[in-house]
Amino acid sequence: MQLFLDTAEISEITARTGAGLVDGVTTNPSLMAKSGADIFERIAEICAAVDGPVSAEVVATDLEGILEEGRRLRAIADNVVVKLPLTADGLKACHIFSGEGIPTNVTLCFSLNQALLAAKAGATFVSPFVGRIEDMGGDGLGLLEAIREVYDQFGYETAILAASLRSATHVEMAARIGCDAATLPPKIFDSMILHPLTETGLKAFLDDWKKTGRSGLT
Ligand code: E4P
Repeated sequence: MQLFLDTAEISEITARTGAGLVDGVTTNPSLMAKSGADIFERIAEICAAVDGPVSAEVVATDLEGILEEGRRLRAIADNVVVKLPLTADGLKACHIFSGEGIPTNVTLCFSLNQALLAAKAGATFVSPFVGRIEDMGGDGLGLLEAIREVYDQFGYETAILAASLRSATHVEMAARIGCDAATLPPKIFDSMILHPLTETGLKAFLDDWKKTGRSGLT
């Protein structure tokens, strides 16, 4: 399963690389706006910092504008994935980019029908927003299950990228459901590493070792 960081902050990315755990990065216009950075410069920096797909999202909503912005973003680096809204024009752009071999991430997916259409349009990734569905009282994980089932049934190769995840448990569930990827805010990524028994267990081991009076291993 691929794990992506959902951030536009370079420091949040570089602090978490080096253990083979970060497979890519996703950004969106809100994260990019929050960073205050120029989108072209920041996407180039992120692409240099990670060896994997970096989703960069268009802000145009008409087909021509989406195609123009998508091509500009894609020209930044070979690992740019063009992120497109799940709209009629977004799906047309997805189909065109797919025909040109440009990888895409169709975002803001909230239903099985939308995911089905993204796959038919040739999306590389589809991003169902689990947390936002749950915020509205819906079943975000159920949507992931339904997409997995239908994609497998018809052999669609679009990768399911679980997005808008709010907890480490969401990541575990996305993995059990068989999502191909998940994108995580840095805090949730960090929380995957932690377990209270690991902490107390390590403390007990080190306390026992200290009692021997040795420094280091000798
Ligand atoms: C995914 O591509 C989005 O950037 C992100 O996961 C949205 O998450 P949010 O609902 O926490 O904003």
